[in-house]
Amino acid sequence: MVNRTVWVAIAAAIIIVPLVGSSENAGDYVGLETCAACHADVAASYGETAHANALEVLEAAGSDGDPECLSCHATGLEDSKFVDGAVTCEACHGPGGEHVATGDKAAINKEIGEADCLKCHTADWSPDFDYESYKAKGLHGSE
Ligand code: HEC
Ligand code: HEC
Ligand code: HEC
Ligand code: HEC
Repeated sequence: MVNRTVWVAIAAAIIIVPLVGSSENAGDYVGLETCAACHADVAASYGETAHANALEVLEAAGSDGDPECLSCHATGLEDSKFVDGAVTCEACHGPGGEHVATGDKAAINKEIGEADCLKCHTADWSPDFDYESYKAKGLHGSE
């Protein structure tokens, strides 16, 4: 019989472990080409989505050098430089350095929900955003 104190401790450990893992790897982006080397089918279907063109729409607007715009239209932004000019895998799945280095599938986030979208799909920039209907437009196919 697990009492309440033990259960709270277990729950806290479950929550803390992923937080520690993600902060250790913050900024450890590898880029779309690296993900695509092993997830070719996912990458091909991803390439059909609007996210793959996110830098092109900035170029068309003449704003592809503006860090404010790049914060949502590019991935792995640091000091005006970015790893990918598009909303790529790691914009949703988080930095993939540890997953690639260790081959551990638990080291990459698959539990992606509405809150992850809302970081970019804000009321200002995406007033029509609706999680279910946007997701149904397709983020990518499966493996
Ligand atoms: C060296 C090959 C390799 C590279 C590079 C790679 N992956 Fe993976 N990935 C795998 C393998 C193998 C699995 C496990 C597949 C399985 O068990 O179904 C996996 C699983 C995953 C999963 C599913 C995890 C789960 O819990 O089921 C996600 C999401 C993922 N990879 C995303 C990425 C992203 C994003 C990148 C780039 C940052 C990437 N992968 C780069 C080999 C790779
Ligand atoms: C907070 C995140 C965020 C920022 C900052 C941001 N955007 Fe966007 N932008 C989005 C999202 C999300 C969409 C898609 C909206 C939709 O379709 O619902 C979008 C769409 C666009 C589109 C329309 C693309 C199309 O397919 O027609 C243009 C153009 C654009 N943004 C330009 C800019 C410019 C220029 C800046 C900087 C001044 C900027 N954005 C800053 C998130 C952002
Ligand atoms: C890093 C920022 C970012 C994140 C995270 C993000 N998006 Fe986007 N999304 C954008 C931008 C920027 C565009 C506009 C790209 C363009 O038009 O080329 C866009 C466009 C879209 C579009 C196309 C809209 C249309 O009218 O055709 C869909 C659908 C979409 N996003 C769904 C999602 C969903 C669902 C999530 C969460 C699982 C998500 N996005 C997460 C930035 C983001
Ligand atoms: C806009 C957000 C977004 C982007 C960009 C994105 N993914 Fe995903 N991915 C998801 C979501 C959400 C799931 C969970 C799907 C579900 O609901 O089962 C997922 C699931 C996966 C899985 C698990 C198995 C599967 O096929 O469903 C793999 C592997 C994966 N993504 C790899 C990638 C790779 C590689 C890229 C870049 C080429 C990428 N993802 C880009 C949101 C995204």
